[in-house]
Amino acid sequence: MSRKRIVAGNWKMNMTPAETVGFISKLKPLVEDAEADVVVCVPAIDIVTAITATRGTNIMIGAQNMHFEESGAYTGEISPAMLESAGVKFVILGHSERREYNHETDAEINKKAIKAFEHGITPILCCGETLKQRELDLTEDFIRMQIKSALAGVSKIDVQNMIIAYEPIWAIGTGETASSEQAEEVCKTIRKCIEEMYDENTSDAVRILYGGSVNASNAAELFSQPDIDGGLVGGASLKPDFGKIVNA
Ligand code: PGA
Repeated sequence: MSRKRIVAGNWKMNMTPAETVGFISKLKPLVEDAEADVVVCVPAIDIVTAITATRGTNIMIGAQNMHFEESGAYTGEISPAMLESAGVKFVILGHSERREYNHETDAEINKKAIKAFEHGITPILCCGETLKQRELDLTEDFIRMQIKSALAGVSKIDVQNMIIAYEPIWAIGTGETASSEQAEEVCKTIRKCIEEMYDENTSDAVRILYGGSVNASNAAELFSQPDIDGGLVGGASLKPDFGKIVNA
């Protein structure tokens, strides 16, 4: 089974709407011949601008978070229907920064994943261990627990179409990338876990990304691993270098 590669940028809390227009116009020619799917996950305020700026291009727009309720008294939140109606195709769920600073739980992430599928939005589900967990040799158990909790009640077909991003917390924004062996080992474990939960068709289809200090010089080696289907890129997605990563 050949999985289409995908490189997704995560702008985090960067770029104003005006900067979004400028950046996208620079990015377009750099990625127009990309063989991989190209996704940029922008702050909520930039979504409508980014969708308009990428119309007719191969760049797809994602959100960085979403609420699991359809609507209601949730001040400051964005609903799945709002994202769908704006034309958003992807949503990052369970990023470690949201788990840490916004106290998102596995149960909430599971509800969000189920809702995203109902609205035709593909989750980019993040998982990843802390340095302490890695040192204590708990990585595999912890990642399996995160995947199982997030996917409880999610159908086989939905899992086949989703994206999982393995992002070791110690490698995010630190400049310290996991080695390609370390990254491959965990991505392979995730695929195995999906096979055990569903079946081989499903584990063959699901796309698994590596994230954590991916840049233009380490992307090609990371993406050449058999179980790594692309990357989730933070800091380097804010620079034209993102074009090089997409083409790696
Ligand atoms: P980084 O972030 O590439 O800046 O390490 C990755 C992420 O948090 O998705």
